[in-house]
Amino acid sequence: MKKTFLFFFLCLFAFTAMAQEISLIPKPAEMHVGEGKFLFNGKIVICYPEYSDKEIEKVLDNFVEELEETTDVKLKKSTAKKEKLQNWEVTKFSKKGDAHILIYVDESMADEEYKLSVTAKRIDITAAKPAGLFYAFQTLKQLMPRNVMAGVRDESINEWSVPCVFIVDKPRFSWRGFMLDEGRHFYGKEEIKKIIDVMAAYKMNRFHWHLTEDQGWRIEINKYPKLTKVGAWRDSKVCAWGDVKPDGIRYGGYYTRKDIKEVVKYAKERFIEIVPEVDIPGHSQAAVASYPEFLSCDPQNPHEVWLWQGVSNDVINVANPKAVQFAKDVIDELIEMFPFGYIHLGGDECPTYKWEHNAECQALLKQIGSDKYRDLQIHFYKQLKDHVAAKPADKQRKLIFWNEVLHGNTAPLGEDITIMAWIGADGAAKDAAMRGMNTILSPQIPYYINRKQSNLPAEPHSQGYGDETVERVYNYKPMNNIPAELQPKYMGVQANFWTEWVVEPWVVEYLMFPRLAAVAEAGWTPAEKRDYNDFLNRLQGEAKYYNLRGVSYGKHVFK
Ligand code: ACM
Repeated sequence: MKKTFLFFFLCLFAFTAMAQEISLIPKPAEMHVGEGKFLFNGKIVICYPEYSDKEIEKVLDNFVEELEETTDVKLKKSTAKKEKLQNWEVTKFSKKGDAHILIYVDESMADEEYKLSVTAKRIDITAAKPAGLFYAFQTLKQLMPRNVMAGVRDESINEWSVPCVFIVDKPRFSWRGFMLDEGRHFYGKEEIKKIIDVMAAYKMNRFHWHLTEDQGWRIEINKYPKLTKVGAWRDSKVCAWGDVKPDGIRYGGYYTRKDIKEVVKYAKERFIEIVPEVDIPGHSQAAVASYPEFLSCDPQNPHEVWLWQGVSNDVINVANPKAVQFAKDVIDELIEMFPFGYIHLGGDECPTYKWEHNAECQALLKQIGSDKYRDLQIHFYKQLKDHVAAKPADKQRKLIFWNEVLHGNTAPLGEDITIMAWIGADGAAKDAAMRGMNTILSPQIPYYINRKQSNLPAEPHSQGYGDETVERVYNYKPMNNIPAELQPKYMGVQANFWTEWVVEPWVVEYLMFPRLAAVAEAGWTPAEKRDYNDFLNRLQGEAKYYNLRGVSYGKHVFK
């Protein structure tokens, strides 16, 4: 049946390729463009199988609501029997006469896969899971005027249509992520929702939320209230560096449990998993300043939330059992707040200086039979991993670490961890894969999209030299020249955004867009279908989307 179906549509579209310009980002795995368009005219009936689950209905309801909010289209839902909806032959349904959009469930497809066929008469969508249906709708919205994806009305448009296409689409990688550091600067939940909206438009599926840093702790933890009473506030708005001195302005903020619940719901509805990160035991000065009595290696000295950029020496005392308990308690609350698959425990840039000068740490190193202080970090993580592994299945989470963890003897952690590769990313990812671990590629250059993307006068101040352009980001080749046997370990790609220099939300947006679109395409589109010039052409329409959605963006690639 499937072969007949494919043949039918290929015949339909084979001689009509490129009749109409279409700008989809990310580019679908397979697309054939037909002639003509489907016109949303009068009341449109959207028909779905009566056996479909509640989640599928919810995706459908959200789509109907969005379309009615942003267009004059009127949609009416109806259900059909499974047998009818299993039959892809157009003629059968056109006899029925009133169904215009038909949703099919085909359980043989992958979770995020979808098929979308638009003819002048009908739109057919097939997916196995709600995520696939959601992505089909994202594509459908991108085929409409830009205001639809932007979620706003445009009174100047009076005809709503979609060009005829046939698309069979699924992602190259299962992990298509974006990380935002809110430890250095805090932007608040409305900004996060805006970012989640654009991620969803680009079919990205992981929002990695870097919630703790030397310069601030941004998430309420019931058991340790001082983390936000003390750790979320500092005496400088800027993160000082060189001649930029602390400005004395009281600055900070954090997410309450209620905020987190709201953002979690928002992300879930857009098929984005949140990956909360608490970066421990390094990058933890804000936590140490909140509870120096058991987190510090030198509690007798004064501690404050850091005002400076860089890497603080003030790391958690991993030899104090109360510090280990603290980490377990924090993880327990994260598990309650984030009903997703992963928790990130950081692990980057953790100086061992304080451990080397602390009697408890010296004794613990001897006890574990190592002479490398880095192994204390691994020992700390091993206890946390065992803690999570002992939980009932629905509370278990997989753990992610930055790639510096590979500098220790990782044998006690086993293979069942994920390495996020940033520094020397290609080599580190391969090292992780060869150790049997999963890995995610987030190369500092060019995937740290907080760095300057041009030298235009309007470019805000940030790290870098302005040469990490959209083109450079686009042309990074993930999983290049990796032996076939290691490839299953490569989960995907992620763009990261660090905020030492970025105080205002509009600057976050300016720097991250449109480069996020380039990373999204690396995560989704088959390697052999990626082409920068083709992407650049498709990108031109995004300026309108960004303007309508109210996000700022870098201008160097727009004509
Ligand atoms: C990092 O950039 N320190 C992960």
